[in-house]
Amino acid sequence: MRKKLIAGNWKMNNDVAESLILAERLKVLSEEFDERVDVLVCPPFTSLYAVNDALRTSGIKVGAQNMYFQDNGAYTGEISPKMLKSMGIKYVIIGHSERRQYFNETDEDVNKKLKAALKYSIIPILCIGETLKEREEKKEKQVIKNQVIRALENIKSSDVDKIIVAYEPIWAIGTGINATSMQANEMAIYCRSCISEIYSSSLADKLTILYGGSVKAGNAKEILSQSDIDGALVGGASLKAEEFFKIINFAK
Ligand code: PGA
Repeated sequence: MRKKLIAGNWKMNNDVAESLILAERLKVLSEEFDERVDVLVCPPFTSLYAVNDALRTSGIKVGAQNMYFQDNGAYTGEISPKMLKSMGIKYVIIGHSERRQYFNETDEDVNKKLKAALKYSIIPILCIGETLKEREEKKEKQVIKNQVIRALENIKSSDVDKIIVAYEPIWAIGTGINATSMQANEMAIYCRSCISEIYSSSLADKLTILYGGSVKAGNAKEILSQSDIDGALVGGASLKAEEFFKIINFAK
């Protein structure tokens, strides 16, 4: 049985004070969380230390939204996996479409970042997803397959089982238009079949696959009840504690 995971991606929102207010509210709500669901929040770097500290005694896990693949060096403005590890951070989002789109992150960067995270035993959440144009041209499966193959190049199977995949169609992110639960499940199944092809069916079965893109309290139940969707990567709706809590409650 794959355990469900609800992850909140706060993106570039919340200064330190605002982050702590949200973290404290989530901490209170977490007393009622179901143990069958893992809960993760990914604040911006500037709030990471404070939020991690505030949630230390709660069951809520804390992750980063990005990292560089080198351990240290002359890379102004970057944060390394070694630095995250030293803070006790155990999760990192890798290859989010906003990083690919606005910061020119390539599949090769994503592959290097995955390897670097794994080296430090940080669980990477690998984001994949097609654009609206690619879906209209019916190329979504090919796009996903290429992203998976390139991201996982030279990563051995004993490491792949530590990776979480988030299928996030770009046309659904922050737009209010979510993929239908059928579309999301179909792509999760397809993604699992790619892993089965590259590695093995037992590894594919074990893989945690999240859906992301306009998940909110109103559509979470339907999306999270699909056979191959093991949780959600939630952007906008993770900024409101009560709404995020409702989504978590649908993930049983
Ligand atoms: P959204 O973002 O829920 O605001 O669409 C999801 C994501 O980017 O991970």
